[in-house]
Amino acid sequence: MSARVAVLASGSGTNLQAILDHFSALGARGNGRVVLVLSDRAQAGALARAERAGIETQRIAGAALETGLASALASARIDVVALAGFLRLVPPEVTRAFRGRVVNIHPALLPSFGGTGMYGRRVHQAVLDSGARVTGATVHFVNEQFDRGAIIAQWPVPVRGDDTADTLAARVLRAEHAIYPPVVDALCAGTIRLGDDDRIVGRDEPATDAQFRLTT
Ligand code: GRF
Repeated sequence: MSARVAVLASGSGTNLQAILDHFSALGARGNGRVVLVLSDRAQAGALARAERAGIETQRIAGAALETGLASALASARIDVVALAGFLRLVPPEVTRAFRGRVVNIHPALLPSFGGTGMYGRRVHQAVLDSGARVTGATVHFVNEQFDRGAIIAQWPVPVRGDDTADTLAARVLRAEHAIYPPVVDALCAGTIRLGDDDRIVGRDEPATDAQFRLTT
């Protein structure tokens, strides 16, 4: 049976688009479908992308996010939640109710360059300022703390001598688009899950396949 996926996004929604495109390409072999896109920002490009794809959208911000997100997800009978550039902390009520079913993509190799305030361009600037030669993308489960849930998949991206935060962001974004959708599908399929000890249980082939595609 196809899992019902909600995507939460604050920005342009290119990761949302990658997930939509992946499920379209999988067709009947896909294990989920995006049925709801939620945003805290009315202007988010992600909402426009969802509307173009005929997917229900909701704007949920401020106090409504704290009090209404869990019920919005429950009334849409959501199985899996994918954060894609969502800038707000997911309320603990949601992370508890959806334990092991909420994932996020982060544009660096966690546990480095994550946490409160580390989003968007700031992440890439911090990587450049640190002198690190490698950065990357990380898919992880979401818990009550920013960027601290169990790591599911990662892919490295080189930092070049002439990189700016913008050129680095663009290179990392391509890695995000490759590794995130297969993980969302694997979560829908139940082939990756969060164990009782907060460690990953399951196969890592979906991410590995995406990584292979990325490098060939
Ligand atoms: C991505 O870099 C994502 O990792 C980060 O925010 C950015 C969102 O991009 N959390 P988009 O809205 O998916 O285009």
